[in-house]
Amino acid sequence: MEKITIPHTTLSGSKLILGCMGLGGGWDAGTVLTKAHEKEARDFVEAGLELGANFYDHANIYAHGRAEEVFGRILKERPGLRDQLILQSKVGIRWKDTPKDTPQRFDFSRQNILEATEAILKRLGTDHLEILLLHRPDPLWDAQEVAEAVALLKAQGKVRYFGVSNQNRFQMEYLQSMLPDPLVANQLQLSLLHSGFAEVGISFNQHAPQYPDGWEGTVEYCRMHQVTMQAWSPIDRGVLTGDLTGQPENVKATAALVKKLAQQHSTTPEAIQLAWLLKHPAGIVPVLGTSKPERLRACAKALDVTLSREEWYSLFGAARGATMP
Ligand SMILES: NC(=O)c1ccc[n+]([C@@H]2O[C@H](COP(=O)([O-])OP(=O)(O)OC[C@H]3O[C@@H](n4cnc5c(N)ncnc54)[C@H](OP(=O)(O)O)[C@@H]3O)[C@@H](O)[C@H]2O)c1
Repeated sequence: MEKITIPHTTLSGSKLILGCMGLGGGWDAGTVLTKAHEKEARDFVEAGLELGANFYDHANIYAHGRAEEVFGRILKERPGLRDQLILQSKVGIRWKDTPKDTPQRFDFSRQNILEATEAILKRLGTDHLEILLLHRPDPLWDAQEVAEAVALLKAQGKVRYFGVSNQNRFQMEYLQSMLPDPLVANQLQLSLLHSGFAEVGISFNQHAPQYPDGWEGTVEYCRMHQVTMQAWSPIDRGVLTGDLTGQPENVKATAALVKKLAQQHSTTPEAIQLAWLLKHPAGIVPVLGTSKPERLRACAKALDVTLSREEWYSLFGAARGATMP
């Protein structure tokens, strides 16, 4: 799999990131890791290595930490593997009852960033992360406080580069104003069925805009400052390749077009959905969410597909359910 130098870094990362949210047995806090979870993680990592992917995305909340824990076990089994990989994780979301009698919340406090990162390193069995992202904006944040945590983690060699997730232009600008080094990534929900990032650019000054709140200037900020846009849920969690009963007309039409284009390009529907993101000149990097090696291979075919401008717009038009303008 082709690799690219991640802007503002010396890292060479694969053009597709492997998301680890599906590892570790799901969202139940009480689940205990088993050999089956280990096998799933091992198969996933091996399939990724076969494809030449070296970039893995975690978050401290995935499977209540078990996604990182099981990944750490696979790293331990394979000495030398850690050094071949780019490990990215996220902090800033806290589960209910951590500690007891607390609500579900966001927490960008210095203390939480530092403690959560320590816990990530311990679970993964590594002494550093290549990239740490702030998971979801915390209304109570103080960017100066975040900057202190970032500076400390960097000075200690525990994190090399920092980025954000689900932040708009203004939030990025605010944080960046306190940081000496550039943010390297913003992980956002970007896909055919979640195309606000494209919609915002064509809705301005229209009679009937489908104007997505909050997107204003976000894509342009990322492009101007070379903040890589990483796309989460890039294949819409399988909606377009699943059972379409009860889905709205635009989803059915998009699924039909995806299927047709997959046949025309001799590729998979997943590849067409991802190629739609890859066509965007911002250099979007999809974060794949499947834990199934077979689906991973179906997704990886995207790197062999180049959609024409006309195909890109046909897909966009089908997904938004309206012509332009
Ligand atoms: N920053 C954030 O706020 C945020 C939020 C969500 C996710 N993420 C990251 O982004 C990654 C990708 O997110 P995602 O998992 O939502 O992305 P996705 O790649 O769009 O969806 C993958 C999920 O959909 C399922 N799926 C795919 N095709 C399917 C089909 N044809 N039929 C049934 N199920 C199908 C997969 O199940 P199988 O495993 O069975 O294939 C998997 O659970 C995550 O792993 C995580 O690293 C970040």
